[in-house]
Amino acid sequence: MSSGRDPRSALGLIGLGNMGTAIAERLLAAGYELSVHNRSPEKAEPLRAGGATVCETARELAGAVDIVLTSLADDDALEGVAAEVASAAKPGTLLVDFSTVSPAASARVAAVAEGASLLYLRAPVSGNPSVVRAGNLTFITSGPPEALERAESTLLAIGRTIHDVGEGEQARVVKLAINLVIGGLAELMAEALVLSETSGVSRAALLETMGESAAGAPFVQYKTEPLLRDDYAATFTTRLMEKDIDLVLAEAASAGVLLPLGSELKKRLRAAVDAGYGDDDFMALFPYLRDQSTEAVLP
Ligand SMILES: NC(=O)c1ccc[n+]([C@@H]2O[C@H](COP(=O)([O-])OP(=O)(O)OC[C@H]3O[C@@H](n4cnc5c(N)ncnc54)[C@H](OP(=O)(O)O)[C@@H]3O)[C@@H](O)[C@H]2O)c1
Repeated sequence: MSSGRDPRSALGLIGLGNMGTAIAERLLAAGYELSVHNRSPEKAEPLRAGGATVCETARELAGAVDIVLTSLADDDALEGVAAEVASAAKPGTLLVDFSTVSPAASARVAAVAEGASLLYLRAPVSGNPSVVRAGNLTFITSGPPEALERAESTLLAIGRTIHDVGEGEQARVVKLAINLVIGGLAELMAEALVLSETSGVSRAALLETMGESAAGAPFVQYKTEPLLRDDYAATFTTRLMEKDIDLVLAEAASAGVLLPLGSELKKRLRAAVDAGYGDDDFMALFPYLRDQSTEAVLP
């Protein structure tokens, strides 16, 4: 099959969580030669069976490829891995990071990359593992234009759309702004569902009508089927959404702006994690609120 790939680039991917695994599978299916590494080595085994070369360390991977892709949980994970990559990668290696991290941590990674003569593209993503598997992932990029030029064919082998938003940390801010809205939508949908069901409206009637209304964002449509099944298996956990809202609030504090609903959302997510919903999908804000509402009306 013609993949449109750049035959000169050897690719490596570090971080085989929910997103990284789906991205690796897509690159292998597109015919790329791919090296992979994960902190917990067992997650790499199914990819070895799919044709990937498994590296024991991030350094081993970085020394062997031209483009290093990373999909990692948070600031600490990215900074740790970037330091290892920088210590072993050849000058001119391209580092492309898909993680959702703070602009401050990303700027520190940029300095480390520059010190090692690496090109660095910020490429946080909008989507979830099913969106990756369907080939519909969206990248929000920022960094030097030559970094995007070198990454473009690889990104388009994984996903469909690239929004390039600047030459510094802008992509990190745009990603956080989108997750502020998505997290807020989840909480407001939870409130709309609790209100409607308590007032005698069926869940299906509310979700189908809302989905076709001015409030019918794609997010409402993605969540309708799982909500109808009361299925909260995570595509993105409540814990990771809390992490993203923490990053949003830290950025707001450093920019000196108030985000009143963002601050409330943080409290709702923390309380849902404390109530045991941390590893569920963040749409579990709905059953969490439903439990609380039931408790509130009981004598
Ligand atoms: N899931 C989504 O729908 C989605 C959508 C958009 C963006 N994102 C973002 O994409 C990133 C990855 O998300 P995910 O859902 O794939 O998360 P995940 O399933 O929790 O995977 C996290 C990955 O980071 C690695 N990791 C964590 N701490 C590390 C450390 N200190 N050193 C080295 N590796 C470390 C984990 O390794 P181990 O396997 O060893 O734990 C794992 O490979 C996150 O920044 C998330 O916010 C996720």
